[in-house]
Order: sequence, then structure tokens, then C-alpha cells
Amino acid sequence: RIISFVMSGGVGSRLWPLSREDFPKQFHNLSGQGSMLLRTVKRMSARGGDTSVPVYLLASERHADRISQDLSGVDLAGGRAILEPMGRNTAAAVVLATEITLREHGDDLVLVVPSDHEITTDRDFWSTVEAGTDAAMAGRIVVFGIQPDRPETGYGYIEVGPQNDNTRDVIRFVEKPNEETAIQYLESKNFLWNSGIFLFRASTMRDAFRAYAPKIWDGAVAALDEATSNVSGTYLPHDLYADVPSISVDYAIMEHAKDIALVPARFRWNDLGSWQSLLEVSSTDGSGNVIVGDVVAIDCENSYLRSNGRLLSAIGLRDLAVVSTSDATFVAPVTESQNVRKIVEQLEKTG
Ligand code: GDD
Ligand code: MG
Repeated sequence: RIISFVMSGGVGSRLWPLSREDFPKQFHNLSGQGSMLLRTVKRMSARGGDTSVPVYLLASERHADRISQDLSGVDLAGGRAILEPMGRNTAAAVVLATEITLREHGDDLVLVVPSDHEITTDRDFWSTVEAGTDAAMAGRIVVFGIQPDRPETGYGYIEVGPQNDNTRDVIRFVEKPNEETAIQYLESKNFLWNSGIFLFRASTMRDAFRAYAPKIWDGAVAALDEATSNVSGTYLPHDLYADVPSISVDYAIMEHAKDIALVPARFRWNDLGSWQSLLEVSSTDGSGNVIVGDVVAIDCENSYLRSNGRLLSAIGLRDLAVVSTSDATFVAPVTESQNVRKIVEQLEKTG
């Protein structure tokens, strides 16, 4: 049996100013086919066969209303929303997933997925996951690898060894290397990107946390002990959850875990993590521009131009991202649009 957990507590700072704490990217309908969260949850139910997959959401309590609107009428097959008073990053979220599975289901397989990725197709997604179930049952943490095509520094990199059956042994896991290192990894051809999807047996992850991050394990479990539930979900207590160290599962566990197996992804994947990646996946006009909203563009090329509610007019732009909302405008070369997270950090510092 597989119990799935959709992580949806991030703020998606690389799509600022569209993606904000109150309205992060997973709630946007970027593809035109429903919010990314809704499509992710529906993907979980698409496993087929007679084994329905319980779907839990790990999310921020400030999004409780948005989530129930977004998912109204969707059958979570016994799962529900687990609501955090504040983000404590993905390590704490994975502890919640693991402990809830142990308490409510037993030592089953846990599938943790991000809520903000574009994945083709549901069938290829599930055939990839199924290829990892034997390794996960045998006590390995299973990751899903994407073939890299550029030295992206926003991802985890996984060095792989020989293939055995469906999986490849993982030699090491390196989260968000610097650019120089990422270029080396790309050239060596032995590295794949981490898709951010994890499959493991609950007891395997519990043992890994006890070995490498016991404070996070104890803190998040203590918070779960004091959680309260109502119709919108299970609420974690503010004081106890605030004490849990905030770090991603990639740094806290994956860089240290000994027995990781990788399944190469059979699906196409895009984390829509930047204006550049949106430019790559969206349909463009004859000059390679993506134009969204109130925009008049003359003689522009290969640019991402987006405005909500206010006219954006541009002449002669090349390779630029311009994103305008009611209270902020962002302008940068498309290739540097990743670095918008630096602006978000700066704004957080100065309030
Ligand atoms: N519940 C909860 N609480 N969810 C969270 C929190 C939190 O505090 N923080 C982040 N998330 C959710 C995000 O909404 C997203 O769906 C997922 O967890 C991953 O978090 P990101 O913040 O988007 O991580 P990342 O993109 O920097 O890096 C991860 O994903 C990459 C692929 O997109 C890593 O796993 C990398 O190794 C990986 O390559
Ligand atoms: Mg991400």
C-alpha cells in the first residue's frame, strides 16, 4: 500500500512577484488546466486498480480556506490536510508524513510529492513510482532522477552507479551545488537531478531521522502529539512546531543517508521554478514571446511579459522577463530570472 503526502507549504519565491506568501505558485493555474495543487492531488488518485491511495496535504494553516475551495469535491480516500502554523521546511514535513503513516496505517510505503511541478503524464508518473516499490519495501529511500540539460543550481544532484533491476545505486546526493560544481556534474554525465519526489517505507525514514536529525524527529512528533483536528484538517500547535529546526529534507537526510536507490523518471518534468522555465514550457507567439494579461509588445523577442490589471507596454525587448502586478514590478534578463529569490530575501530583511 502507498500513502501519499502532497507538500504544499512553500512560498515559491522564484516566481515573485506573482507568487507570494498568501498566494504561492501551487495555487496558480499556470498551465490552464487547474491549479498545480489540484492537478497533483488528482495525479495521486490516478494509480488505478483497486488500491485507492490515501492523499494527505502538508500545508500552511494560512491556506486552509484556499485548499478547501481548490479541492472541493475531490476524494482524498481517507487522507486530509495537515496544517502547519508556520513553515518549518521539508524535513519537518517528511517527519509528519512518516509518523502519521505509522500511526494511522502501519509500516506502509510513503510517497512524498511537491505540489508545484508540471508532470507528463499520470500514467508515466505511476509506472516510474511502481518501478521503485520493491527497493522501498526492501528498506531503501527511493528518489526519481531527471536527466539534466543545464547547470541549474536550484536542484539537488544525484551521482549514480550501476543499474540493477529497476533502480540505480546512489553514490552521493548533493543539494544545490554552486555553479562551478554544477557545470562539472553536468559534464561528468553521472549525475541526475533530484525531482523532489521521495518513496520509502515509514520505518526506513524514521530510522534515518533518528540517525541524522533526531531533534527534527522528536520536535515534529511532539507537535503531532498535541495537534487538534476539525473539519478542515489537523492543526499543529504554534509553540511546539516553532521549535522544530527549519531545514530541507535534502540537507537533513538525503545528503547523509547510506542506502538510496534511484529510478530514472519516465515522465517529462518541469518544476516551473522560474520565469525562464515558464517561458520554455508555455506556448509562444511568432517571435518567441510569452505574453500574459494586459500587455502591448512591439518588436520584442524571446521575452516573458506578464501584467495583471495594469497596462504593460514595451518596445524592442530581447530576452527579458517583465512581470508586473498591482504592487510590484520585476525586470531581469530571462537567464537571470532565478535570482529573483535574492530580491525576496532582501525584502524579507528590510521588512
Ligand atoms: N508543508 C510544507 N511545509 N511544505 C513545504 C515547506 C514547508 O515548510 N517548504 C517547502 N514545502 C513544499 C513546497 O511547496 C514544494 O512543493 C516542496 O515542498 C519542495 O520545496 P521547495 O522549497 O520548492 O524546494 P526546492 O525546489 O528548493 O528543492 C527541492 O526540489 C527540487 C526539485 O524541484 C529539492 O528536493 C531539490 O533537491 C530538488 O531538485
Ligand atoms: Mg521547488
